[in-house]
Amino acid sequence: MSNRYAIILAAGQGTRMNSKLYKVMHPVCGKPMIRHVVDEVKQTNFAKTYVIVGHGAETVEACVGEDADCILQKEQLGTAHAVLQAKPRIGKEDGTTVVLYGDTPLVTHQTIEKLIGLQEAHHAAAAVLTARTDDPAGYGRIIRKNDGTLAKIVEDKDAASEEKKVKEINTGIYSFDNRKLFSLLEKVDNHNAQGEYYLPDVIGLLVKASEKVIAYRTDHFEETVGVNDRMQLAAAEKYMRLRINRRHMRNGVTLIDPDTTYLSAECVIGADTVIYPGTVISGRTCIGSGCSIGPHTQIKNCLIGSGTAVNQSVLEDSQIGDQVQIGPFAHIRPLSKIHDQVKIGNFVEVKKTEIGARSKASHLTYLGDAQLGEDVNMGCGTITVNYDGKNKFATHIGDGAFIGCNANLVAPVTIGTGAYVAAGSTITESVNSDALAIARSRQTNKENYAQKLNYRTNH
Ligand code: UD1
Ligand code: MG
Repeated sequence: MSNRYAIILAAGQGTRMNSKLYKVMHPVCGKPMIRHVVDEVKQTNFAKTYVIVGHGAETVEACVGEDADCILQKEQLGTAHAVLQAKPRIGKEDGTTVVLYGDTPLVTHQTIEKLIGLQEAHHAAAAVLTARTDDPAGYGRIIRKNDGTLAKIVEDKDAASEEKKVKEINTGIYSFDNRKLFSLLEKVDNHNAQGEYYLPDVIGLLVKASEKVIAYRTDHFEETVGVNDRMQLAAAEKYMRLRINRRHMRNGVTLIDPDTTYLSAECVIGADTVIYPGTVISGRTCIGSGCSIGPHTQIKNCLIGSGTAVNQSVLEDSQIGDQVQIGPFAHIRPLSKIHDQVKIGNFVEVKKTEIGARSKASHLTYLGDAQLGEDVNMGCGTITVNYDGKNKFATHIGDGAFIGCNANLVAPVTIGTGAYVAAGSTITESVNSDALAIARSRQTNKENYAQKLNYRTNH
């Protein structure tokens, strides 16, 4: 095991977000910021990872799960004070400690490793990850000496006007010699604009103590975006979206317009699937290969097979097989299971329903709490009448059954295998296999009745 440790700071409230949700829990591409950081840290070989929690501690802890030990910072007195909370655990260890902020969700494990590598190779007391940006407002500035080496980090609120012009910023990601970090942390004071104990002050203290400190400037500013407000949240979302979309394109997925394609951090998509504009795929969705998805489609937490087409539809928490056709304008609601080669056409709503292979509901149908066999045909305008105002009831339809247009199947009811239901029927009793059910009044034709009507309207 390595003698490397990671500390992720996540105790802040995030006042500038103006939110009931704790800052690090805000999702970026559907995944909480803290989870992004933890997942990247997980890919690096740390002996132990600690997350410093405070505001919303329980929520953050639940999100972190088994992947790190959480340490409570009761009062949020600043980033240096936050790191100090880990002192009883690792303060006396030899080794390297990487500190990251839970509100910097775009950092990658490659960058973390590069930073550690630099610090260790140069036997430096610390290495700071910095970046250049044309809009440095809000970030701590990297102040260099005349010879180009690092002098200190000045917070935006404490910076003199000359310092404010500096475009090299502190990303909040550091690799420290563990012992040197903890020996200096307590020397950090809070005599500054915010009355907080600043972690970046440790860098200045190390320099003053003639310790070697490296500033490693990454060319990828986007990896280091810190999220303090909703504008930065939107910026982080945009960068993350681009990263996710590129990953899928590299894997062989066609995105007709990556700028209007919204894929969650966790979704999986097979090669040769084409995603059309305006599509939002969220949660843990898994889509097979050779599918056609969109345009203007929302899919959340679904498992979709290969060769399936979904057009302008909404699908949630459901399973869809291979070569299924859905839409346009269909709504597949939670807990539905749609088998291979099924066709769900326009204005069809499916809820908590299983539909066997090759069955069709091509137009204007509601299927709720139903179980359809294979090769069933649901005529246009058919409804499973599943709700009596109080309880929900199930409908069972056997293989090969044919339900005529505009039929109501009042649940609980069973339509047997191969049975027919005549168009316009309201079925209240189960129908045996191979039977024909007609449940409508007979038609009466009144010959020459039109003349009577004409007579009335003409006089
Ligand atoms: C911080 C840095 C700044 C850097 C920027 C990068 C300090 C003093 N400033 O500023 O130099 O450019 O990040 O994004 O470090 N936190 C705690 N406990 C606390 C205070 C904060 O856990 O007592 C956590 C927060 O939840 C957050 C992180 O530390 O995840 C950073 O705190 P934040 O208030 O966002 O610092 P910035 O003002 O962004
Ligand atoms: Mg911040």
